[in-house]
Amino acid sequence: MPLPADIRSDAIPRHIAVIMDGNGRWAKAQGWQRIKGHRAGADAVTRCVEACNDLGVEFLTLYAFSTENWQRPKSEVAALMTLLERFLKEQLSRMVADNVRLQAIGRLTDLPQSCQEELHRCIEATSQNTGVTMILALSYGSREEIVDGIRSLLRNVSEGHLDSAMITPDVVSKHLYTRYFPDPDLLIRTSGEMRLSNFLLWQCSYAEIVILQKFWPDFQKEDLYQSVRDYQKRQRRFGAV
Ligand code: IPE
Ligand code: IPE
Ligand code: MG
Repeated sequence: MPLPADIRSDAIPRHIAVIMDGNGRWAKAQGWQRIKGHRAGADAVTRCVEACNDLGVEFLTLYAFSTENWQRPKSEVAALMTLLERFLKEQLSRMVADNVRLQAIGRLTDLPQSCQEELHRCIEATSQNTGVTMILALSYGSREEIVDGIRSLLRNVSEGHLDSAMITPDVVSKHLYTRYFPDPDLLIRTSGEMRLSNFLLWQCSYAEIVILQKFWPDFQKEDLYQSVRDYQKRQRRFGAV
């Protein structure tokens, strides 16, 4: 499909990261249970992936479940895990048809066994796809990722594979879950909250940030396009003048 009006093809963000927030408040506003908001949020994911594919975005990281989210009521956590598994089962044929490659970051072994199996099945089945790479952040926490990275660095040093004097920001990046992906250029958060909530703290050092007021289930393809238009108006300076 042709690019939406006003979007320049030479300045598409390579990597967009999204904090998909506001599912619970969206449901509550209509007098429904929170889980209904999560279900509607899954449909918004499909629209977001499609919009990224339309624009030729290479990587889309979606914050789907944080390490802190395990503290939510057991019933909500269980419902989210069931929804994740169903989402993966239902989406696989669409991902294959739309050339989407699935990847995941986080402490994936925390997930229920059946979720892990479905996740790995989808990752495997889409591994040769060449469209957008959708990276699900699951049981993800940036501080936990950095701790895991430090452990991996220390192991390399103690085994004699790495000299501590050789540790640079690039070397640290290579020890994070995101080592195969470039840093996000654009970070979008819905529901008006202006915080990172332990998401990609290291990687978003120079990401442009767009905060949308609407709740995640109301996210439309046009919201992705508009966020990219806003991004294209920014002057990225990386500390230079
Ligand atoms: C985001 O929506 C989805 C997850 C964190 C899993 P929330 O569930 O945080 O919804 P609000 O922010 O409470 O409205
Ligand atoms: C961040 O949203 C996590 C996800 C979107 C998965 P939260 O709703 O958990 O974050 P806080 O509690 O508002 O900071
Ligand atoms: Mg929230």
